[in-house]
Amino acid sequence: MYQLVRMIREDLQNAREHDPAARGDVENAIVYSGLHAIWSHRIAHAMWVRGLRGPARILAQATRFFTGIEIHPGATIGRRFFIDHGMGIVIGETAEIGEGVMLYHGVTLGGQVLTQTKRHPTLCDGVTVGAGAKVLGPITIGKGSAIGANAVVTKDVPAGHIAVGIPAKNRPRNPDECIKLVDPDAYVTGGFPANYSI
Ligand SMILES: CC(C)(COP(=O)(O)OP(=O)(O)OC[C@H]1O[C@@H](n2cnc3c(N)ncnc32)[C@H](O)[C@@H]1OP(=O)(O)O)[C@@H](O)C(=O)NCCC(=O)NCCS
Repeated sequence: MYQLVRMIREDLQNAREHDPAARGDVENAIVYSGLHAIWSHRIAHAMWVRGLRGPARILAQATRFFTGIEIHPGATIGRRFFIDHGMGIVIGETAEIGEGVMLYHGVTLGGQVLTQTKRHPTLCDGVTVGAGAKVLGPITIGKGSAIGANAVVTKDVPAGHIAVGIPAKNRPRNPDECIKLVDPDAYVTGGFPANYSI
């Protein structure tokens, strides 16, 4: 129970840190579909790994109906995961997401083959994926990297890089870009949070 409360508080704090529009925790807990989606996913994933696969799929589908965010219950997602805006997000069964990852609306972490193998991407810690981006296949997006809005990524992205365009091209990311992408609040206020890290 204590762990559950701690997790919810961490998620609420994470929402405040990632969205300059976020206000009080109570309001955020009610209105943020990204929070509802991850909370529901944690329950669905726990059911999935315990063999309750049908009920897990039904819960995930119901969550999709209410949030527009489709996360397969088999997907593995780390702490401090944040989805801003939600809607139109698809996260596939074998996707693996590290800690402190952020997605905007319209992101697909999808597969390219129809075989039951590892077919979805792995996002390492601190990755940000811009609105509308498609990350396809069992590729790895390295720690602290960012995917530009509407990019289509089908190849690995090394740590600390930015990938933009179709097909996406990688370039090293500089610290200024880290401020802008990882913490929009810092971008808006021009500040840099003391506890910032990727
Ligand atoms: C890709 C991104 C991370 C690049 O940020 P950046 O390094 O600060 O890039 P800049 O804005 O300085 O632009 C650098 C160049 O990349 C181009 N560029 C920027 N974003 C791009 C994108 N998503 N796709 C293709 N090209 C892009 C710019 O036009 C510019 O081109 P130029 O050098 O020919 O003028 C950022 O533009 C982005 O897409 N962030 C996602 C934000 C998002 O999804 N927000 C949703 C809020 S609701």
